[in-house]
Amino acid sequence: MNDHGISVADRLSDLTACIDFLDRAGQLIRVRSEVDPVFELAGIARQLEGTGCVLFERVRGSRFPVLCGLLADRDTVGQLFALPAAQVPFAIADAVSAWKKAPAALVPRLLDQAPANEVIAAPDLQALPIPQHALKDGGRYLDASLVVARNPRSGGLNISVHRMMVTGRDRLSFLIDPGRHLGDYVQIAEERGVPLEVSICNGAGLAAWFAGALPRLGDNKHHVAHHLIGRPLDMVRGQTVNVPAFANSQFVIEAEVLPGLREDEGPFGEVTGFYGGRDRRWVMQVKAITHRKSPVLHTVLSGPEVWNTVGLTAEAAIYRALKARHPEVTAVFLPPGGCGFYVAVIQVDAPAPGAGQQIIREAFAAFRSLQRVVVVDSDVNIFDPVDVDWAITTRFNADTGLLILPGEEGHILNPMVSIAEDGKSGTVTKIGMDATVPPGDPARFERVGYQPVDLRDHDISGSGRR
Ligand SMILES: Cc1cc2nc3c(=O)[nH]c(=O)nc-3n(C[C@H](O)[C@H](O)[C@H](O)COP(=O)(O)O)c2cc1C
Repeated sequence: MNDHGISVADRLSDLTACIDFLDRAGQLIRVRSEVDPVFELAGIARQLEGTGCVLFERVRGSRFPVLCGLLADRDTVGQLFALPAAQVPFAIADAVSAWKKAPAALVPRLLDQAPANEVIAAPDLQALPIPQHALKDGGRYLDASLVVARNPRSGGLNISVHRMMVTGRDRLSFLIDPGRHLGDYVQIAEERGVPLEVSICNGAGLAAWFAGALPRLGDNKHHVAHHLIGRPLDMVRGQTVNVPAFANSQFVIEAEVLPGLREDEGPFGEVTGFYGGRDRRWVMQVKAITHRKSPVLHTVLSGPEVWNTVGLTAEAAIYRALKARHPEVTAVFLPPGGCGFYVAVIQVDAPAPGAGQQIIREAFAAFRSLQRVVVVDSDVNIFDPVDVDWAITTRFNADTGLLILPGEEGHILNPMVSIAEDGKSGTVTKIGMDATVPPGDPARFERVGYQPVDLRDHDISGSGRR
């Protein structure tokens, strides 16, 4: 693969280098005319989705450009990693394993000065080109920023992505789903009656982004990013908060979560393709904003960008969990039809009789949002929905291969999940399908084969050739 003069580590840890790489690789679309950040930007991004990453150079009301679509296409993500797209989850899984094995192996520097604080700006969110995406969104949203927070008990750091709605010049309301570390920390701070300091890092690069999207890893999971790029990612000290930020961020918004306060947040066009509703949710007060000299604001469009982010990280997490106990597991894919959240296809090589059902149960335990898990043999292309459907049609028998798990924990953004009265959790019936060849008569399941032929060895012309 051509690296266009920019190393993998740089393009994964520095959004500016990443944009340069995409430009040189011919994968950057530039929108040069002025666009309205309210609805128009997302309308253009939606139409261009999957054709390239889109840099909006002139956004009305702000001096700064906006990047969208970075994660819309897995092949582009693969190119940034210098890997085939299908290998990216394994790279993430390896980075998690390396970090778990040696948690202090790659220790970042804590800098006073870094690209992220080249400019100390006024704490005014309205100066930023924060878009309003879907037509019924409740306001402008930061939807591609990492929230760095300190565990109030251990002092360790956590990073996670949260949708944050701009409600004033220096105020945000935001969503915390059940089970998030940030929710635990806010609760501890609220019990102590104190605010929780955070630093919100926008455009911290893909290595930090993927580390942030990995759920439930615990203190200092940002070190996974170091193992992804093979060197520590520097951090920079906050101006007003005792929480560092990624030194390469495009923008850093320092803020505190106000204790005991809830304000309206939502609706927001969500990963499911539906709106997440409006409710009283957590509030942040902005204390400072810093940025690079020429920053680019990073945003994602709900849909493929989020499916790929969640998909690639969940595939890594599920693969790691399963592989340790079932060496026959060869790959995991969370297809777009399952929103990158709810459906997993797991590929196995020569499983022992009955292993399929056990693998299904363990996959549900490894990633709790899953609602449907399908296990297929290694001759099935898990990235091809037709092939997976074919395996279900020809190798799955509901009498013996179906697992129905009622009353399981569901992901509350999915409208088919029954939400509990407190609104904080929900349940759903999950299904598993073992679509591997049943034991007993393998000859009946032999797939038709043809001789591999190199067409370049033949003189072929006429219609039907691509
Ligand atoms: C684009 C995107 C948006 C997300 N938005 C939210 C959100 O608004 N609220 C939330 O609780 N989790 C959200 N998540 C999921 C968490 O950021 C993610 O699961 C993270 O790993 C949680 O970290 P934790 O397990 O350490 O708490 C989002 C993830 C992505 C990729």
